[in-house]
Amino acid sequence: MSVARTLHGARIVIAQDPPSALGRAIATRWPAHRMVLIADATVAALHGDRVRAALGAEVVLTFPPGEASKTRETWAMLTDALLARGCGRDTVLVALGGGVTGDLTGFVAATYLRGIPLVQCPTSLLAMIDAAIGGKCGVDTPAGKNLVGAIHHPGLVWIDPTFLETLPLAARREGLAEAIKHGVIAEASYLAWLHATMPTLVDAAPLPREIAHALVERSVGIKCEIVAADEREANRRQVLNLGHTIGHAIEQVSGYAVAHGEAVAIGMMAEARLAVRLGLAATAVPERISEVVRAAGLPTALPMAMDPAAILAATRQDKKARSGTVRYALPAAIGRMAGAEQGYGIPVEEAAVLQTLTEM
Ligand SMILES: NC(=O)c1ccc[n+]([C@@H]2O[C@H](COP(=O)([O-])OP(=O)(O)OC[C@H]3O[C@@H](n4cnc5c(N)ncnc54)[C@H](O)[C@@H]3O)[C@@H](O)[C@H]2O)c1
Ligand SMILES: [Zn+2]
Repeated sequence: MSVARTLHGARIVIAQDPPSALGRAIATRWPAHRMVLIADATVAALHGDRVRAALGAEVVLTFPPGEASKTRETWAMLTDALLARGCGRDTVLVALGGGVTGDLTGFVAATYLRGIPLVQCPTSLLAMIDAAIGGKCGVDTPAGKNLVGAIHHPGLVWIDPTFLETLPLAARREGLAEAIKHGVIAEASYLAWLHATMPTLVDAAPLPREIAHALVERSVGIKCEIVAADEREANRRQVLNLGHTIGHAIEQVSGYAVAHGEAVAIGMMAEARLAVRLGLAATAVPERISEVVRAAGLPTALPMAMDPAAILAATRQDKKARSGTVRYALPAAIGRMAGAEQGYGIPVEEAAVLQTLTEM
């Protein structure tokens, strides 16, 4: 089972093949290159040696797991390690891990010697269906997340869903929030499949291979189609922001105690209800999203102690806010987003947002 697509020069392969097949794919694309693997300590301990040996990579550079490592300091440590090894432009960096590893390694690859080849080998569900695709990379700063970064397209994205077998269930659930988002923005039948398959998707340990493949295949397809369409249809990519304007604000107000996937789940609920309030969607839309979100064991309501006014204030800092008005990606129906004529970014009065949040 292997599926390949091309996006911005990146070959995106979904393959349940041994890592030696990845080694061959890299050697074919970049003959006679050195290979350096980058992984956080958790993924390195689980998969690092096996993957390094299968690829014939010379080393695994590691850093502590977690968002706290996605910094300029870790970027400096990694670039210094490459310089110390004498790595030149004939070096391919392979990011083995979740979105933190992918974003960091991508930023190292974008900047090291003004840009060297990059391979994304995502191991978390979120990285497989979201972070590894599209070329965005970067680091966080004390002023906020993802504020310093670049676009650096990987030459190859190697998605092997069997890595999900070691992913903790909580992290799997967070990835499912993004999969649900894909169904809502682009494909009602995919949302229906997710709903029907949810008991297995949420609980089965390990995730059965055919189901993991189907999940990743459909979500990757949707993300690729949207990113590719962005060039023809101005701003189409904005639809991927569903759930994220309110979601990011919830994460920020909670001091990042609310996980990203949970915040996105609540954000999708809030934004779908906002779409109803604005007359853009029928009430059946938030009802349908709520069913699937609940089936995934994700939250649908604001955390008890969270002040709607604080969330509203945090939305103003979202970097997608333009000329003072925060723009939202809002659903018109399951599988179709509103606002095509205005670049899928709908300016919304703050009073409507506040009222919606207060009702939640
Ligand atoms: N570049 C983009 O377009 C984009 C899009 C979405 C998210 N992101 C970024 O992605 C990051 C979140 O990604 P994430 O949730 O993958 O975080 P992560 O990289 O921190 O991974 C989550 C945890 O899972 C562990 N892990 C990963 N794969 C594993 C496996 N197979 N087995 C066992 N443990 C495993 C990691 O060690 C980590 O502790 C955020 O920094 C976010 O900003 C980027
Ligand atoms: Zn997200």
